[in-house]
Amino acid sequence: MLFKSSITSTLTLLTFWSPVSFVAADPNNAELVGTWTSKSNTVFTGPGFYDPVDELLIEPDLPGISYSFTEDGHYEEALYRLTSDAVNHSCAIASLTYQHGTYEILANGSVSLTPLAVDGRQLLSDPCGSSGVSNPDYETTSFYSRYVQSTLFKTYQVSVDAYHGRYKLQIYQFDGSLMQPLYLAYKPPLMLPTYALNPTDKASETKDSLRKRVRRSLENQYRTTAIKEFNPGKYDLYWYMSATLLGGAAVFAFFH
Ligand SMILES: *[C@@H]1O[C@H](CO)[C@@H](O)[C@H](O)[C@H]1NC(C)=O
Ligand SMILES: *[C@@H]1O[C@H](CO)[C@@H](O)[C@H](O)[C@H]1NC(C)=O
Repeated sequence: MLFKSSITSTLTLLTFWSPVSFVAADPNNAELVGTWTSKSNTVFTGPGFYDPVDELLIEPDLPGISYSFTEDGHYEEALYRLTSDAVNHSCAIASLTYQHGTYEILANGSVSLTPLAVDGRQLLSDPCGSSGVSNPDYETTSFYSRYVQSTLFKTYQVSVDAYHGRYKLQIYQFDGSLMQPLYLAYKPPLMLPTYALNPTDKASETKDSLRKRVRRSLENQYRTTAIKEFNPGKYDLYWYMSATLLGGAAVFAFFH
């Protein structure tokens, strides 16, 4: 389970001195850096969403999406989407998607995401077979597959959301439509290692060495803060207490 300290009270402080600021997209990644999550605050990139050692996607409590960006041009995407079926609610399609790779802010303000093809994964639950994706296994309604989808964001804006008192990232999708707004959750970002996790040459990597690689990468991201193991459970290996200053006003404490 995920416990999160209440951040609302400290964050509302921001609204007193930070009127909504608008920062136009220019070729500068600094403002994108961090882990962003949608309003449900349940989906975060990193080891809580995808376990690369056992290649497992882990279902969050509620649907939502999360993107992380590093200063040096890497990104990670975690999507938990639910498409309702207006006719038969038992036919809703759920998908969990993990991708990571590199991103580039183009001179015209668009952002292009290029995934590492070997690493993308999707778990699709389609109880009525209405997604049109052929299910290789008729006995189950969930199926797991590789996933590769490059993405272009037409543009984006980072602002301070006056109501929620949080940094907000508004992405405009390739066709100009609004993606659901994202809010800054972690800075530095919470991400899996940014290089290929599943090299095609499987022989070169054992589960153990991958586990060490993932762990080392996570520890390096948080080397200035405390990390400790507190639960032998498969998905709760890490406990982050990350105190991050955002705009000098907000202190975040996260417990995983
Ligand atoms: C920016 O350039 C890319 C690549 O040529 C293009 O696909 C995209 O639509 C352009 N964005 C805008 C806002 O014009
Ligand atoms: C809805 O879909 C489920 C699963 O396929 C099926 O068992 C059920 O009969 C459907 N209900 C209706 C009202 O169509």
